[in-house]
Amino acid sequence: MAAPAPRCDRTAAWPRLQAHYDTVGRGFDARTALRDDPQRVAAFGVQAPHVWADLSKNRIDATAEALLREVAADCGLAQRRDAMFAGEPINATEGRAVLHTLLRTPAGAQVAPGLRDALAQVHATLDAMLAYAEQVRADAAITDIVNIGIGGSDLGPQMATLALEAFRDPGKRLHFVSNIDGHELDAVLRQVDARSTLFLIASKTFTTLETMTNARSARAWFAAQGGTDVARHFAALTTNVEAAAQFGITRTFGFWDWVGGRYSLWSAIGLPVAIAIGAQGFRALLGGAHAMDLHFRTAPLAHNLPMRLGLLDVWYRNFHGWGSRSVAPYHSGLRRLPAYLQQLEMESNGKRVDLAGQPLPYATSPVVWGEPGTNGQHAYFQQLHQGTDVVPVEFIAVRQAAHALPGHHAQLLANVLAQSQALLQGQDDAGGHRHFPGNRPSTVLLLERLDPASLGALVAMYEHRVFTAGVLWGINSFDQWGVELGKVLAKDLAPRLESGDTTGLDASTAALVQRLRT
Ligand code: F6P
Repeated sequence: MAAPAPRCDRTAAWPRLQAHYDTVGRGFDARTALRDDPQRVAAFGVQAPHVWADLSKNRIDATAEALLREVAADCGLAQRRDAMFAGEPINATEGRAVLHTLLRTPAGAQVAPGLRDALAQVHATLDAMLAYAEQVRADAAITDIVNIGIGGSDLGPQMATLALEAFRDPGKRLHFVSNIDGHELDAVLRQVDARSTLFLIASKTFTTLETMTNARSARAWFAAQGGTDVARHFAALTTNVEAAAQFGITRTFGFWDWVGGRYSLWSAIGLPVAIAIGAQGFRALLGGAHAMDLHFRTAPLAHNLPMRLGLLDVWYRNFHGWGSRSVAPYHSGLRRLPAYLQQLEMESNGKRVDLAGQPLPYATSPVVWGEPGTNGQHAYFQQLHQGTDVVPVEFIAVRQAAHALPGHHAQLLANVLAQSQALLQGQDDAGGHRHFPGNRPSTVLLLERLDPASLGALVAMYEHRVFTAGVLWGINSFDQWGVELGKVLAKDLAPRLESGDTTGLDASTAALVQRLRT
């Protein structure tokens, strides 16, 4: 693999970008720009597969974008993207390739010669997984599917099955159990019957504490209910086929270490989605994501939606200094999208050292958060409009509704437009309390319909946007060492809660251990 290109602050364009920010960027007013430049809406509109984006209300001008493109070119964005698609081990700290895109590459497509076998394996596993999904769908005796998994083994399938409610088999109830908090599993077990329940144990590693604890409890509950046919009622979705077999599960759908947990929706981890929407629907989801992959690979930077969004993220985080971004999907089916994006973005780009392990002198991932509209409007939008912090907002709107209730959808769409407009235009009021400063940036992402293909494209767009920002920041977006320390400490603390041994603990933790024991 070629030596890594410089990170953003070591490129020639970076100081020029800073100078542009100091002279123009800081005071840039999107209202004036929209009024004075009749080309702005077209120039800041981007069409990608299934997703139209209006970036024109953002606090960015053509010069800043051009300079960001120079930075991206100097950071080797295109080369690093190509290295990812070619299966080079770009996840250097784990010595792994990053090939979630291969999971949605059609059989027989042109891939690097070294990836042909992997692509054949991907399709053999996909075919087997989808055949099983169809078998479960046809099996009227199975009414409940309980997915036990956490992080990427939960958030993606949960988000997608909610989003694709309109495409779901109504005969199957889906449940998601992720937390080690027994209340969650207990509540599900009280709703289901062992004779008609299928447990999917979803874990890339098959070692995650929460998932293994829940899986053992589910198996014990199944046995206590008189269940004996584990082969029929349990399946595993994992890269660790051996551990699944040791657990006693014979039906396993595998995937590979080059699929990161937060990028695994497209793998066997997607089985609950396939059961919910069928094999054809799942293939459409993959097809939408693949269309976005092609766009990301081939569209020039200036018209490449994931790249433009990634560059905007860098502009906002490192020049404007804004520390969070709010995602407001105006479709209740997308209610778990913000949680999904939190893992995708913050686990990927929440890093403080560069590829060489050196501390970074600039900020990386913003906090990503949000709720569906219009609910958020009646909760935290007050702060977005009049608070002291500027929070860029990303609205997601869907032109066609999947229901026929009169009036609702037009009101919903009017609200998404109104919020974006209000953030931009503001309102003058000398009295102060009713004054809205305006010029608050927002993006509108527009889908024609929320269906498997458009959802696949939308999620892949976010993946590649995270990748883009990560390349500029010069970080490894594909490891997650930051989650390890807490896991190790929890292992040490669990027996202490039993024994009361507080030796070597800090005074605060020791006191809390004592308090929890009494
Ligand atoms: O702890 C973080 C993490 O490793 C995530 O990256 C991952 O999605 C999640 O845990 C679950 O891991 P697994 O699928 O191996 O159980």
